[in-house]
Amino acid sequence: MKYTYYGHSTFLLELENARILFDPFISPNELAKGIDINSIKCDYILLSHGHGDHVADVEVIAKNNNATIVAIYELASYYGAKNYKHHPMNTGGRWDFGKFSVKVVNAVHSSVLPDGTYCGHPVGFIITEGTKSVYYSGDTALHMDMQLIGNYHKLDRAFLCMGDNFTMGVDDAIIAADFIQCNKITGMHLFSYIKIDHQKTIQKFDESGKTLVLPEIGKTYEV
Ligand code: NI
Ligand code: MN
Repeated sequence: MKYTYYGHSTFLLELENARILFDPFISPNELAKGIDINSIKCDYILLSHGHGDHVADVEVIAKNNNATIVAIYELASYYGAKNYKHHPMNTGGRWDFGKFSVKVVNAVHSSVLPDGTYCGHPVGFIITEGTKSVYYSGDTALHMDMQLIGNYHKLDRAFLCMGDNFTMGVDDAIIAADFIQCNKITGMHLFSYIKIDHQKTIQKFDESGKTLVLPEIGKTYEV
């Protein structure tokens, strides 16, 4: 498994047999202006919730790739009504997509589309392919349900929001890493005025026995 960072909370996860894009917010992101959204190839687009900083480029990229949009029922149905390929799920559910599976897990946040459409609950995802699993937190506070994630799945990497203000911050993300029992963390939800001191943050994770990657936009990493 490999992943490429496109800024904010947008990642392309490359499995052996599928390419999954998470929460595409690229064209409005000043920091990601070097990325051409028309160059992105994916089979699935997973959406954690409906906020603008997670769905801005969904329609263009879904259309370019004839990709399937996977999200909680209300959000998936919104795109389904616009004739996009979609697969609705809900919290606690798992679905086998053939080459990989997705489990939808709780997130503590809010969710509405920029046009005011109600989107149900915000969620996170666990993606499993063969013996490998990764967790994508979406936007969330630290919450006790994260302990279940660690009990059910041996995670190879977790993508955790840590920008504070709208989501958990760095200190809570370190506790989250303990809850999910994962020592390989990639940080996200960092853009615009949500900034963290990279070196100090990496050191903080290091002191608690965890490796933090704060990825560079446009770069590809091994899971
Ligand atoms: Ni949000
Ligand atoms: Mn957000």
